[in-house]
Amino acid sequence: MTEEGLRAVFEAYLQIHLPGGGKVEEAMAYALGGGGKRLRPVLVLMAAEAAGGDAECCLPAALAVEAVHTYSLVHDDLPDMDNDDWRRGRPSCHRAFGPAVAILAGDGLLTWGLGLLADPNLRQSCSDAACLECLTVLTAAIGTAGMVGGQALDLGFGQASRDQIDQMKTAALFGAAAQIGAILAGRGDLAMALRAYGEDLGRAFQAVDDRLDLDRSDQVHLAELTKVADLHSQRALQHLFPLAERGGELTALVERLSQRQA
Ligand code: IPE
Ligand code: IPE
Ligand code: MG
Ligand code: MG
Repeated sequence: MTEEGLRAVFEAYLQIHLPGGGKVEEAMAYALGGGGKRLRPVLVLMAAEAAGGDAECCLPAALAVEAVHTYSLVHDDLPDMDNDDWRRGRPSCHRAFGPAVAILAGDGLLTWGLGLLADPNLRQSCSDAACLECLTVLTAAIGTAGMVGGQALDLGFGQASRDQIDQMKTAALFGAAAQIGAILAGRGDLAMALRAYGEDLGRAFQAVDDRLDLDRSDQVHLAELTKVADLHSQRALQHLFPLAERGGELTALVERLSQRQA
């Protein structure tokens, strides 16, 4: 399926699984909505298909990754973190619901997301061992050696290069998303290649994101970020070699993300 097709399938699945019931669930659903690009869940599904698996079967895992990513955004925007008023084209979760509910909504998204890797439907179509491996991969990518660690470094708690911070904060989750696709497709032999692809895609994505945030007059940084984005895009494509012609959509994704304007 194309990127657009996978996004539409994911979006439909998300809509029928949005949390509801109380204030915290309302805030969780609010944060999940809006103009999210859904890159990480699409990557789970696209990697699964490229590895010969069935995208529909992997939807709970794609939602797990999007829920965990959304938690990171809700907490990232909090007053004691980046203090951002806007997210996904509307007021950030704490601006809409207050910081206490936003903290709990983040906690709820993280907990729910991890639990989705033990979803009965997922366990029916993939082995328990595969689900457990996905849990190991996802928790490693978002813990202190991954996203949480990268967030801490980004806030100045420790010394690290920009490269290391981007690897931990952004690329680790992209890598996990692609690796999860391979694992659920039953292609452990492709897991490392797809993980490496995801990580380089994530690094290129972050460099393009930083370039879009940059003042047009800052030509030096503009050139530096373009170089980083190109380097990681090239590397991402090289990791697709074992997939041969099955890597077509993943190739197109690298190209689309390196050229995106928003
Ligand atoms: C935002 O990620 C955080 C970064 C790593 C730059 P996205 O730009 O993918 O956010 P959404 O999911 O589309 O809102
Ligand atoms: C967002 O990071 C959250 C994570 C990557 C965990 P940033 O602070 O760099 O991104 P924006 O600008 O708020 O989307
Ligand atoms: Mg931040
Ligand atoms: Mg931020």
